[in-house]
Amino acid sequence: MKSLKTKFLFTFILISFHIMAQNADNMALTPPMGWNSWNCFQTKIDEKQIKEIADAMVSSGLKDAGYIYLNLDDCWMSKKRDENGRLQSDSIRFPSGMKALAEYVHSKGLKFGIYTAAGNCTCAKGDFPASWGNEDLDIQTFGSWGVDYVKVDRCKVPKGFNEIKIQQYALFSNAISKYKRPMIYSVCCPGVDACEWAPKFAQLWRTNTDIGQFWYTPVHDKAKWSHVGVDEIIDINTDLRKYAKPGRWNDPDMLQVGNGNLTPAENRAHFSMWAMLAAPLIAGNDLRQMKETTKEILTNKMVIAVDQDSLGIQALKYKTIDSIDVWVKPLQHKKWAVCFLNRARTAKMLKYNWKEHIIYDDLSKREFNTRKTEYKLTDVWTKKQSGTTRKNLNTELVSHDVLMFVLTEK
Ligand code: GLA
Repeated sequence: MKSLKTKFLFTFILISFHIMAQNADNMALTPPMGWNSWNCFQTKIDEKQIKEIADAMVSSGLKDAGYIYLNLDDCWMSKKRDENGRLQSDSIRFPSGMKALAEYVHSKGLKFGIYTAAGNCTCAKGDFPASWGNEDLDIQTFGSWGVDYVKVDRCKVPKGFNEIKIQQYALFSNAISKYKRPMIYSVCCPGVDACEWAPKFAQLWRTNTDIGQFWYTPVHDKAKWSHVGVDEIIDINTDLRKYAKPGRWNDPDMLQVGNGNLTPAENRAHFSMWAMLAAPLIAGNDLRQMKETTKEILTNKMVIAVDQDSLGIQALKYKTIDSIDVWVKPLQHKKWAVCFLNRARTAKMLKYNWKEHIIYDDLSKREFNTRKTEYKLTDVWTKKQSGTTRKNLNTELVSHDVLMFVLTEK
C-alpha cells in the first residue's frame, strides 16, 4: 500500500514538472516585446517618470503594436533589504512601492518586469543589493508584487562563479516554477556560451555585451568590457540561429532606436535586423518625447510581423555582395522576408537578379528558388507592392540602410 502511495506521489511530481516545463516553453512563443528603462535613463529612474512611460506606451500606439512589457532595469531598489531580508524599492524615488507601481502598469493593460543580478550587487555603481543567496526569496517577493518578467544580470559575482553559473542561474527558474505566477525569465550573462545552457530554463538570453548608441563599436581593447555597436552585434549573432525557436530567443540586447546619433537609415536598419534575427523587441528610448520618425519605425506593423512570425526562425545570412548583406528569413504560409543591408560607410548600388540566387536553408529545410516560384514583393518601409522576383533589383542603398521585402508566392 505504502509503495503504491509512493508511486502515486512520484508520478504526480513528474507530471507537475512536465506541466511546469510546458508552461515555461509556452511563455514566449514569439520574441517578447516591451520597453526597458536602461538605454535612456540608466540609473535615474523614479515612479513618476515610469508611470508617464506606461501612459506613453498606450497613447503612442506602442502597446497596440505589441509592446506589452514595461521593464524596470537597474537601480529601482533600496540599498538595504528590509527587516525580513527582502528587497525593497528605494523609498524616495518610488514612494508608493513596487506593488503599487505594478498595479498601475497592469491597469494600463501592460505587464510589469523587474531587474536583479545573480551576484552580490547589481551592475550599476553604488552597491545596490542583488540576489546571491536570496534567489528563492527574491522571486517570491517579485511574485508578490505582481511581476511578470525578470531580467537577471551578472555582476559582482563571487570568485569561481563561472564554474557554477549554470546552477546559479537555474535557481531563479526553479524559484519561478515553484511560485505560481508565470514570469518570463531573461538571462543576462553576456556571451555566446549562454546559447548552450540558458535555453534549458530561460525564454531569452543575452548573446553580447551592452549595445551602445552607435553603429560601429569604438576602437577598444577587446580584452576589456565595452559597449558594442549595432554592426558588431549583427556579426556576433549571425551564427546563433539554431538556438532560436518559439519559446527560446537569442537576445542581442534592447533597442537603441531613437537614441544617440544613429542616423534615420541606421535606426531603420537596426530595427529591421532585430526583426530578421527574431530578437526580443524591447524599446529603450524616452517614449514621452519620441520623434514621429522614431514612432513610425517602432510601430511598423510589417517589420514587427517579421519578428513575430510564428515559425520563430532566425534569418540566414546568405552572402555579402559588394558590402551589401543578403539576409533571408523563412516565414509562415510559405512566405520569406529578405533584407539587403548596406554595411559600407558609403552608398552602394544594389544589383540583384533573384534567379541567380537559389538559397537552401539547412535549418528550416526550405528552398528559396525564384526559378521555380515567382514571388510578389512588398517593401516593408514604403509599404508598397514592388513587382515580382521576375524583375532584377537595381537601386542605390545609402550607407547602413536596408531594403527589406516580404515575399508572397504569386
Ligand atoms: C549590465 C546589463 C545592462 C543593464 C546594466 C544595468 O550592463 O548588461 O543591460 O542591465 O547592467 O546596470
